[in-house]
Amino acid sequence: MNGPLVVIAPLPQVLPRGRERVELQRDHARRAVWASAAAQGSPIAELRKDSEDVPQPSRGWHWSLSHSPARVAGTVWPSSIGVDVEERRDIRPDLVDRILDAEELALFAARGEDGFLRTWTGKEALLKEFGVGLQALSRCRIVRVAAQELEMRFDDLPRIVHQRLFADHVVSVCTPEGVQPSFVVYERPLESRREVAS
Ligand SMILES: CC(C)(COP(=O)(O)OP(=O)(O)OC[C@H]1O[C@@H](n2cnc3c(N)ncnc32)[C@H](O)[C@@H]1OP(=O)(O)O)[C@@H](O)C(=O)NCCC(=O)NCCS
Repeated sequence: MNGPLVVIAPLPQVLPRGRERVELQRDHARRAVWASAAAQGSPIAELRKDSEDVPQPSRGWHWSLSHSPARVAGTVWPSSIGVDVEERRDIRPDLVDRILDAEELALFAARGEDGFLRTWTGKEALLKEFGVGLQALSRCRIVRVAAQELEMRFDDLPRIVHQRLFADHVVSVCTPEGVQPSFVVYERPLESRREVAS
């Protein structure tokens, strides 16, 4: 492994409702970040965000997390990083048009893929790496599609988004070129922030 460890874990099967559910999702996503930090020997101390919700580095380490209805993903790394996880589901056609342009659609179609969730999570991971929100979506572009990665541009800046495509979800992580992440998938919800990925 020469890059960040991305920790993926399920949420508990029985979840509270409303605000409590959101808090639990956020807590579990932070456990994934701590598990990644512990496994990498990162001294990251606090998971603070700025007023725009952008994660702030701690002791020189950056972090990123994502929560979906059924699972969480989190990672840390000494330079900026972005991670996203989404479950496979039926997609409204108008959403496809919003997320993928014609050239991007053609790149996936040539591979016999619809590309929607790969694009969604890939662009989310890219936006997070740059610490910007959805208003910057049009600045993200896919220029090449491979089995487990997307070559992307944020404006003219090249980035590789590494992806793991599971039966019911997709995970994307955006790293600088040449930095290869690894992934660990937990079968059970993470118990505490001290749990160490192995
Ligand atoms: C906020 C956003 C960055 C991600 O939202 P999301 O995919 O719904 O949620 P995720 O769980 O994957 O990620 C949320 C986490 O991203 C982080 N985050 C929020 N804003 C961020 C930013 N500007 N830069 C980096 N990270 C950010 C936070 O840690 C947040 O979790 P927290 O509130 O528990 O700390 C943004 O892209 C968004 O609002 N997306 C809405 C969904 C959508 O329409 N996506 C289009 C597909 S491209």
